[in-house]
Amino acid sequence: MPSDPVSVLFVCLGNICRSPLAEGVFLAVAEARGLGSRFEADSAGTAAYHSGEPPDPRTTAVAARHGVHLTSIARQATRHDFQRFDLIVAMDRSNRRSLERLRGHRPGAARIVMMRDYDPESGDPDVPDPYYGGAEGFERVYGIVERCCEGLLDELADGPG
Ligand code: 4NP
Repeated sequence: MPSDPVSVLFVCLGNICRSPLAEGVFLAVAEARGLGSRFEADSAGTAAYHSGEPPDPRTTAVAARHGVHLTSIARQATRHDFQRFDLIVAMDRSNRRSLERLRGHRPGAARIVMMRDYDPESGDPDVPDPYYGGAEGFERVYGIVERCCEGLLDELADGPG
């Protein structure tokens, strides 16, 4: 693994729906596997609309239904995140484009990967944005995020030194 602990930043647009959920689920899955001390996670948004806010109440509710407690406060991603984190995980292709612009071409900058590259059940590249939909969208996103976190941890826990 690239560092100990390995630090992972999950990024979506607003940092109140998908990425805080991913941060909480990733840490919960790591903890459940007895790997809690090997990983750190944070989340951020490509936009600052909701900076300083807790997760959307629908996000908090779906996490709580699955036994995951969310503590993050929204913030915007910065170029320094590419130095602070080992891996940056984008929720959708638009987030990835924004992150690539922010990163530029700095040497040593963290790799950007797509969350759904770790979903064994789907070829869809994006975690859908549930913000403008109903509660069922948040439940669906929870299932996607959980599968992807399991897949991501499979790879990180077994990955090269
Ligand atoms: P997120 O969802 O990117 O998963 O946090 C959104 C949250 C807020 C907005 C859009 C998406 N918004 O337009 O305010």
